Amino acid sequence: MNERPLSVLCLASYHKGEEFLRQLKREGARVLLLTSKSLEHELWPRESIDEIYFMPDVNKEWVTEDMIQGVSHVARTERFDRIVALDDFDVEKAAMLREHLRVGGMGDTTARYFRDKLAMRTRAVEAGLAVPPFVALVHDETVNGYLGRVPGPWVVKPRFQAGGIGIKKVSTPAELWTLSDLLAGKRSFHLVEKFVPGSVYHVDSIVDGGEIVYSIASAYAKPPMEVVHEGRVFSTRTLSRDSATSKRLLDLNGKLLRSMGLRQGVSHSEFIESDASGELLFLETSSRVGGAHIVELIEGATGLNLWAEWARLEVSSEEKPYVLPPHRDDAAGLIVSLARQEKPDMSVFDAPEVVWRLHKKHHVGLVVVSPSDERITELLETYTKRVYDDFFASQPLPDRPTS
Ligand SMILES: Nc1ncnc2c1ncn2[C@@H]1O[C@H](COP(=O)(O)OP(=O)(O)O)[C@@H](O)[C@H]1O
Ligand SMILES: [Mg+2]
Repeated sequence: MNERPLSVLCLASYHKGEEFLRQLKREGARVLLLTSKSLEHELWPRESIDEIYFMPDVNKEWVTEDMIQGVSHVARTERFDRIVALDDFDVEKAAMLREHLRVGGMGDTTARYFRDKLAMRTRAVEAGLAVPPFVALVHDETVNGYLGRVPGPWVVKPRFQAGGIGIKKVSTPAELWTLSDLLAGKRSFHLVEKFVPGSVYHVDSIVDGGEIVYSIASAYAKPPMEVVHEGRVFSTRTLSRDSATSKRLLDLNGKLLRSMGLRQGVSHSEFIESDASGELLFLETSSRVGGAHIVELIEGATGLNLWAEWARLEVSSEEKPYVLPPHRDDAAGLIVSLARQEKPDMSVFDAPEVVWRLHKKHHVGLVVVSPSDERITELLETYTKRVYDDFFASQPLPDRPTS
């Protein structure tokens, strides 16, 4: 039988997802990529892409109407079986296109839970999860009531951003209202939330047919906000599966994703463990792989590449169900930092446990893997210190994510 290959339109307003595109091609799909004109010269895996389309952009922003018209134009001769958003910022665009062209998958309503930090909080509360007390920065009296009830400090957080960008800490109602005035027309695109000192964790999952078929919990060495706002080395590590924290996190994440309605794909969710109460509070979720090379961390620990697994999920069907490949259960740690050297010499990180190195100008980064949790603790300690001593640099936070 000579069947038409499954045709997958991938949206990427950032240069990412090479392994996703490659795996799609390996699976025999017709791979179509829609990206920003400004990313035309990035090293896309062209050999795995059948057609590539470019959207004119200013700062990677696409005019929605133009995108719908452009893709509909292509749809006169291409049938899209799947539309996939490779980046957070593409999630609502992909949902919009699915709704417009009546392609299956996540529609506008579900996509909202994975993009809008206000919607995801409301949903998490409905599902019985604990969250830091929050309020929409919309109705003055309601906000004042909240400020009277919930002791500060608070964070003012953009509903649709990522990477710690735009989050501001305030300590008094006066400070909050000054900031709110500065936000002007953008004010309602923010929420206010109690700042909870604590440790931040992430759970990365594979979801097939609405069920979590794989998930793994990890702990950031320092809260990501401190890393980006104060300039620190970024580091995270997998948690031992038998640990009580890992079990609690995986359980909460299961509840969360079931309530959000993700049917097929991958997810990266974050939780904060309050120093004061020990309670695990929901921070955010997404329908994508984690950023900052978390894919490499998890591949180190398990052998599963979440980009590739995501591609396999997208092309799966009743006739060809998704099967989770055999995987390991090692411990892994990740370190990433800006470096003062243009081409840092990473040969000092010479332990046999180093399985991956980041090759990017003005960056150092590596993944270590071992069957032993203690060995990962030891390596992360030594290597983080080494990064601070020999390489570390920091720069002010940009207005938008840069990768
Ligand atoms: N309510 C909070 N209390 C304490 N820290 C917070 C809170 N909300 C966010 N943060 C810090 O800011 C970081 C980014 O917040 P998050 O909600 O995950 O947004 P982003 O999409 O920018 O990652 C978190 O990892 C954490 O370090
Ligand atoms: Mg986050």
